[in-house]
Amino acid sequence: MKTQEIKQQFQQIFGVQADAAFFSPGRINLIGEHTDYNGGHVFPCAITLGTYGAARKRDDELLRFYSANFAEAGIIEVPLQDLVFDPAHSWANYPKGMIKFLQESGHVIDKGMDIWIYGNLPNGAGLSSSASLEMLTGVMAQELFGLNIDRPDIVKTGMKTENQFIGVNSGIMDQFAIGMGQAQKAILLDTNTLQYNLVPLDLGDNVIVIMNTNKRRELADSKYNERRSECETAVGELNRALSIQTLGQLDAQTFDEYAYLIADENRLKRARHAVWENQRTLQARAALQAGDLAKFGRLVNASHVSLQHDYEVTGVELDTLVHAAWAQTGVLGARMTGAGFGGCAIAIVDKAHVASFQENVGRIYTDKIGYAPSFYIAKISDGTRVLNA
Ligand code: GLA
Repeated sequence: MKTQEIKQQFQQIFGVQADAAFFSPGRINLIGEHTDYNGGHVFPCAITLGTYGAARKRDDELLRFYSANFAEAGIIEVPLQDLVFDPAHSWANYPKGMIKFLQESGHVIDKGMDIWIYGNLPNGAGLSSSASLEMLTGVMAQELFGLNIDRPDIVKTGMKTENQFIGVNSGIMDQFAIGMGQAQKAILLDTNTLQYNLVPLDLGDNVIVIMNTNKRRELADSKYNERRSECETAVGELNRALSIQTLGQLDAQTFDEYAYLIADENRLKRARHAVWENQRTLQARAALQAGDLAKFGRLVNASHVSLQHDYEVTGVELDTLVHAAWAQTGVLGARMTGAGFGGCAIAIVDKAHVASFQENVGRIYTDKIGYAPSFYIAKISDGTRVLNA
């Protein structure tokens, strides 16, 4: 969307001119899944699908929100003094939470705003539309109120909004990828220290195909929180002999030596995934940097196997897509991406084979599941930003 068009749409709704226009990407994760809340590494990138926005500072203390995706909901009005979660405010709870926590950490947001947004991330697909919106709001407030805040602090405020305002116990990967992303680069992030490297994403003749199951992510939040607490319980059991804060601190060998302490099979599988996935992520970065794309692809496949059998967050839709992808010519690797339980998978596919890939995987999926998947070619984007005229 062009800046001009965003500003025009804002003006049509609010009858005044916007102060500025913005874009905030979505994200895919190449590898390192369900490791961020386990103190491990992740390897995501920001994508060019995301959330556009425009905003204007008001003279009073009213926040007015409008989404072109939910036009029937009209303008949602919230007084600046009343930033509490309200289910009736649906998507507007994300910007409300951001503004509340920015204020609480001492940033002066003393006037209201008119905020217009439009997102082109497929709904509920696990490409982080919520983190995209959180980061968008943070950068809007920074720009309109001249806040002296650095990007990692906006990222942390995004995670706090998700955890404490919305009630999903997610890690920091999504906000970090969206806030810190750069075009053509993937981010290797150590979620324990928040140290990161931007790694050029050179895939040769291959592209990343995003495959959407088009399955609603039912019960995803409660199962997500359940996995997280299973891992925390496993840490407690391991600490009868060890002294660790997170599973990300263990290498695979040490984990195996002490795994006898975990009393329950499910917890053993969850913890094993967290430890091995962290190792795989580091190996995948090394393979990518060495230009060993075949090995990178195999590690991506191994990640899915572990998420399917040990972490058990895939389901028939994601498994069907990924297994169909593995069987196609010209595919380096494929796996689910994001939280799982529906949503999207990614495949690394030779450009020359993309058309037959989509046709074949689409047919296999539709025959088995009863409805079609969707495909998008991922383009790797810069992080959340102000759009110049
Ligand atoms: C969701 C969460 C992230 C991360 C992934 C799984 O996207 O928001 O913090 O835990 O799931 O890797």
